[in-house]
Amino acid sequence: MASWISLLYLFIFSFIYTETQLVPAIFMFGDSLVDVGNNNHLKLSLAKADFPHNGVDFPGKKPTGRFSNGRNAADFLAEKLGLQTSPPYLSLVSATNKSNAFLGGASFASGGAGILDGTDTLFRLYSLGARKLAVVGAGAIGCCPSQRNQNQTGECHEQANYWSLKYNQGFISLLQELKSELKDMNYSFFDTYTLLLNFIQKPAAYGTSK
Ligand SMILES: *[C@@H]1O[C@H](CO)[C@@H](O)[C@H](O)[C@H]1NC(C)=O
Ligand SMILES: *[C@@H]1O[C@H](CO)[C@@H](O)[C@H](O)[C@H]1NC(C)=O
Ligand SMILES: *[C@@H]1O[C@H](CO)[C@@H](O)[C@H](O)[C@H]1NC(C)=O
Repeated sequence: MASWISLLYLFIFSFIYTETQLVPAIFMFGDSLVDVGNNNHLKLSLAKADFPHNGVDFPGKKPTGRFSNGRNAADFLAEKLGLQTSPPYLSLVSATNKSNAFLGGASFASGGAGILDGTDTLFRLYSLGARKLAVVGAGAIGCCPSQRNQNQTGECHEQANYWSLKYNQGFISLLQELKSELKDMNYSFFDTYTLLLNFIQKPAAYGTSK
């Protein structure tokens, strides 16, 4: 589980490939939930995970830059698709490394990342060849410990959750719009919000208790 949570979003896309392989490569965008070490290369970032106990359950038992005791969602997804985890883009130093990465996938995920008006153009991704998008929606951000602290009752912060929902609604409309215009594009949307809220509200149903 990620030990440090900022903006809860990520998205992943991959290029069309042969019939036998689902995708040839994963290009990962997102925040601390899927950062596999980019922030180790950002000297000025405050969002760091290059210290214990991050990594205690990772092969080698050392911090890797993942905000996690072990592997994170990026690693699990790559494993399910039969691919190596895409390397942190900022770790690729040589020109050969970079050209390999653009064929084999690369991770641009960076702890603390957000979406700016200028960087949310999915059309910019489509024109580069992206055809399959897996989008993970924002979770119930108001239920993060830092947000609960702002509620005197210690319950979830309603306004933060409201904005998570608004964000997800906006993202779903954007995807629907894209699909209607770009027929050869496919996407899936993972409803993290509902899933997490179910865990929080009905812990017993999922084998845990309050
Ligand atoms: C980057 O290049 C170096 C030297 O050629 C190589 O040892 C290393 O495995 C490469 N890394 C990746 C991720 O391709
Ligand atoms: C705090 O939690 C209570 C119970 O869920 C909720 O009714 C209230 O609106 C919350 N307050 C804020 C500031 O979100
Ligand atoms: C993508 O969408 C098209 C059109 O809806 C469909 O024919 C195709 O099977 C889809 N491809 C995948 C991999 O889901």
